Amino acid sequence: MNLGFLASHRGSNMQSIIDACKGSSLAANPVVVISNNEESGALKRAQAEGIASYHISAKLLGDESKTDERIAAVLSQHDVDLVVLAGYMKRIGPQTLQAFNDRIVNIHPCLLPKYGGQGMYGMRVHEAVIAAGDRESGVTIHLVNDEYDRGAILAQEKVEVLESDTAQSLAERVLTLEHSLYVDTLSRIISGEIDLPV
Ligand code: GRF
Repeated sequence: MNLGFLASHRGSNMQSIIDACKGSSLAANPVVVISNNEESGALKRAQAEGIASYHISAKLLGDESKTDERIAAVLSQHDVDLVVLAGYMKRIGPQTLQAFNDRIVNIHPCLLPKYGGQGMYGMRVHEAVIAAGDRESGVTIHLVNDEYDRGAILAQEKVEVLESDTAQSLAERVLTLEHSLYVDTLSRIISGEIDLPV
């Protein structure tokens, strides 16, 4: 299975998946990385790994529709079977959604449907969990549709929120789980244990 990544920043989830492919614990090929952010760690990681990488953004191309068209074209050119969002901060456009219908997955650092939607990303999610006094948070992996964080949930795992937790300490524990759950979920998709809609 060929994986295409979309990532905006650090790219640590993407890296853990690439490492699993290299270590043969995941039967997949990371074939392309796309970022809207030229300075992203994700693009640097792709270059270091010798994976084709593209900076594609509306700022560069002038509008969202051209950006969407270009992203869909690049993913198709590289024969991507599954699109993996790994900290991608932009909404996926209709052309990409149509071309990869039910073949785009995303990771969110809490238990959706809580704390999802536009504007809920990064440390904001963990701050909201702490502010609400929740005793548990976790990680969700879901299919992507045209609504932020609302596609079908494929996998979810919980993390206890400790009395002593700050948003930062919670984020660190959740991120460790993200890395293993993303690899595990992709592996279950590849083996057919998780059935994606046909
Ligand atoms: C992760 O917390 C992920 O859940 C969210 O964005 C963050 C990306 O981190 N969607 P990284 O770029 O993979 O290190």
